[in-house]
Amino acid sequence: MNKDIISALEWRYAVKKFDATKKLSDIQIDRILDGLRLTATSMGMQLMKFIVITDPMLKEKIQPIAFGQTQITDCSHLIVLCRTTEPKQQHIEDIIELTAQKRNMEKNTKQLIGYGEMMKYALHMPRQEQINWLENQVYLAMGNLLTICAVEEVDCCPMEGFNKSQLDDFLGLPEKGLNSVLMCTLGYRADDDKYGHLSKIRRNKEDLVEKLSLQDIPV
Ligand SMILES: Cc1cc2nc3c(=O)[nH]c(=O)nc-3n(C[C@H](O)[C@H](O)[C@H](O)COP(=O)(O)O)c2cc1C
Repeated sequence: MNKDIISALEWRYAVKKFDATKKLSDIQIDRILDGLRLTATSMGMQLMKFIVITDPMLKEKIQPIAFGQTQITDCSHLIVLCRTTEPKQQHIEDIIELTAQKRNMEKNTKQLIGYGEMMKYALHMPRQEQINWLENQVYLAMGNLLTICAVEEVDCCPMEGFNKSQLDDFLGLPEKGLNSVLMCTLGYRADDDKYGHLSKIRRNKEDLVEKLSLQDIPV
């Protein structure tokens, strides 16, 4: 795979109609999940989980929770991107433990103690702010997922059009300390998906990007 990133991103689009007869291979989905695992997160905390669903009967039950969107039932793989409900001291200890193991360090070094204190301090924020922060991390993972799929030539549709609390209750996510944030359907675009033949709509780079120097700042 040696595709130019711009052509890959031009090629991808939010699929509205999947070819329900085509399925991704285990190798394809594993590569995508390997890439997703490498998503950067704030302080490296990865307070999230990715739930992969292929069971057609389960997908059928989820479809009404996503306002009947047909991508849910026609896709090959459905990924529910979840946030941790509430960060706990244990999450901080786990990441310290993992860092110590992987980097061959003692847990009680000044560096790791400082890291733990930084995480604790950063997470100490009003509850709604904390939820927003946790959700933002999952949105980053989605951005990464879309790019991975583009590079791997796997079609997908990012989805926030669903009832989060209904999905949480149905999948029993709160019992697992999780809440849904987004879903992503993956598979193969149908030949007759009319969205696959439309021009991409993006604002001009000149409108979207501004280059700034110190001399441009009003005094
Ligand atoms: C966070 C997010 C949520 C989205 N939710 C939905 C959705 O629920 N259903 C849907 O059909 N498309 C959804 N989209 C697709 C967008 O409408 C689409 O990405 C946008 O119009 C740009 O088009 P393109 O991705 O085809 O280039 C979503 C996109 C993003 C980034």
